Amino acid sequence: MRIFLIGFMGSGKTTVGQKLARRLGYSFIDMDMQIEKESSMSINQIFKELGEDGFRRREHDLLLRIIRMDNVVVSTGGGVPCFDNNMELINQNGMSIYLKMTPESLVKRLVHSQSKRPLIRELSSAELPGFVKTKLQERESYYLKSKIIYDGLDVQIEEIVRMITREPL
Ligand code: S3P
Repeated sequence: MRIFLIGFMGSGKTTVGQKLARRLGYSFIDMDMQIEKESSMSINQIFKELGEDGFRRREHDLLLRIIRMDNVVVSTGGGVPCFDNNMELINQNGMSIYLKMTPESLVKRLVHSQSKRPLIRELSSAELPGFVKTKLQERESYYLKSKIIYDGLDVQIEEIVRMITREPL
């Protein structure tokens, strides 16, 4: 089985993904970390040198490889579901879980980690809330295609495990 954690930047995909993988005895892939490792560049550098298009191509290429793996929990980058046919690929090949959060909760988390995220690193604390609200509105229709919608503020790993085993693939 392949499990994909979906959601906006700051929704906790990496933390939840690591815990879920450990609980299930699956491997864990964080797409951002994997892309950084394979390119020997940080996400910020990739955006600077290859542009956002270049980064999105790398995300898509990595996803095409991930859907051939098995027993893996994947933390996707916040943009993955919104480009190419990525969300269709995810749903055709695995279980998608959207960690849903309000813009307000996301902003509270993101203020502490703006610098490694090229889309928000240059924003002032006054600009961040508006950006998150608008971007989430743009993206949520993709996130909502996930098979499971889960409250990102109150994550219970055992409950997720029960939901996964109930849902048809
Ligand atoms: C992005 C989210 C980031 C990373 C890149 C772009 C986005 O991943 O892929 O900075 O477009 O939302 P996280 O969701 O893990 O922060």
